[in-house]
Amino acid sequence: MENFTAYNPTSLHFGRNVLSQLGATVGRFGKKVLLVYGKQSIKSSGLYDTIRQQLNQAGAEVYEYSGIRSNPVVEDVDAAAAVGREHSVDVILAVGGGSVIDSAKIISIAIPVEAPAWGFFERRMMPRTAVPLIAVLTLAATGTEMNQFAVLTNHKTENKSGYGSPLIYPKHSFLDPQLTTTVPAGYTAYGIADLIAHSLEAYFGKGEDASLTDRFIFAIIREAVEYGPALMKDLTDYKLRAKIMFAATMALNGMTMYGRTSGDWGVHSIGHILSFLYDVPHGASLTIVYPAWMELQRENLGHRISLLGESVFGTPDVDTTISRFRDFFSSIGCPVRLSEAVTGNIDYNEILRIMIQNKAATFVHKLSHDDYQRIIELIK
Ligand code: NZQ
Ligand code: ZN
Repeated sequence: MENFTAYNPTSLHFGRNVLSQLGATVGRFGKKVLLVYGKQSIKSSGLYDTIRQQLNQAGAEVYEYSGIRSNPVVEDVDAAAAVGREHSVDVILAVGGGSVIDSAKIISIAIPVEAPAWGFFERRMMPRTAVPLIAVLTLAATGTEMNQFAVLTNHKTENKSGYGSPLIYPKHSFLDPQLTTTVPAGYTAYGIADLIAHSLEAYFGKGEDASLTDRFIFAIIREAVEYGPALMKDLTDYKLRAKIMFAATMALNGMTMYGRTSGDWGVHSIGHILSFLYDVPHGASLTIVYPAWMELQRENLGHRISLLGESVFGTPDVDTTISRFRDFFSSIGCPVRLSEAVTGNIDYNEILRIMIQNKAATFVHKLSHDDYQRIIELIK
């Protein structure tokens, strides 16, 4: 087992009606609140009114930044940070899915600096301080509610990339599974896929001897494989929403990394390229790439794929395990070929160019240009 440090400062409030404590919690950080949200879901679901009521009760002075898009862009972060800076906000309240919370994380470190936020991603700037962030999660998928990562797209530099800092853990995250019952079928399935992919990135990371952590991972994936299909049949079922929401948080809050030094993250970086080029939803990009990546690694990682198959599907056979993942993703409505996710022409040479340019970073199992080409063939 590799040496590790366990650290997670986020207070997680999980369950029915946890939002009743939101106003009081925000109020402890100050009066001036920057409220950040997405395009329309919080208004159509009625959540916006609940949030405003909570903030009114706390006597908050509220400034808003809305319209954060899925696959969020750095321009919105810079614009929102300018609003926060202008009003010297005390606290940020992010209400939405991963895109909103990720944006708010970078807004929280961008407000104190007078410079474009992309400087953090290029490691030209280091954050020294952050405006406290509180999150209300409305979509189970990314784990951002309890981790130190954020992912943004920059069209000028042609990439979608991740950033991590202990300063951007939310102080508090509120997770009421009821709020996820309005998530449409597509994004529900992509969320289930995303939590499986996070578990797999950790499983294929460095530190194979962490058997207890492997078992955490198998348990998380089994929750998704067992309850995901049932949820797809009844999107309004609270109990099933709760199981998937809990699993998604646990899949990327550090726990799956105990006893390891690194996850692999190769599938995510290739998925980010598909999202960057074709605006493929994040989880959908992963269901296209993961089975292909496992096929590429079937010799190198056969022993790991076999143990995974035995623990999740009851089969140690490598090819059957890869097929079972592909069939599972298809069965919940996720694409497993790029052509299923993109209408119109796909420029495979362009995908290869960006893969080489961005070095489609993996932390453990390095990919050669031939491997990129092979993956492209496998996802066609
Ligand atoms: O914009 P609105 O109107 O709110 O609609 C959103 C959006 O269209 C909608 N939605 C959210 N909650 C809803 C809802 N619709 C109905 N009812 C609700 N309760 O869902 C759509 C997708 O939202 P988005 O936030 O984009 O999805 P997700 O949570 O999957 O986040 C994806 C982003 O997170 C990044 C991804 O790369 C992607 O940019 N990730 C962040 C990670 C992290 N911080 O640790 C790790 C992940 O691997 C991932 O990379
Ligand atoms: Zn992900």
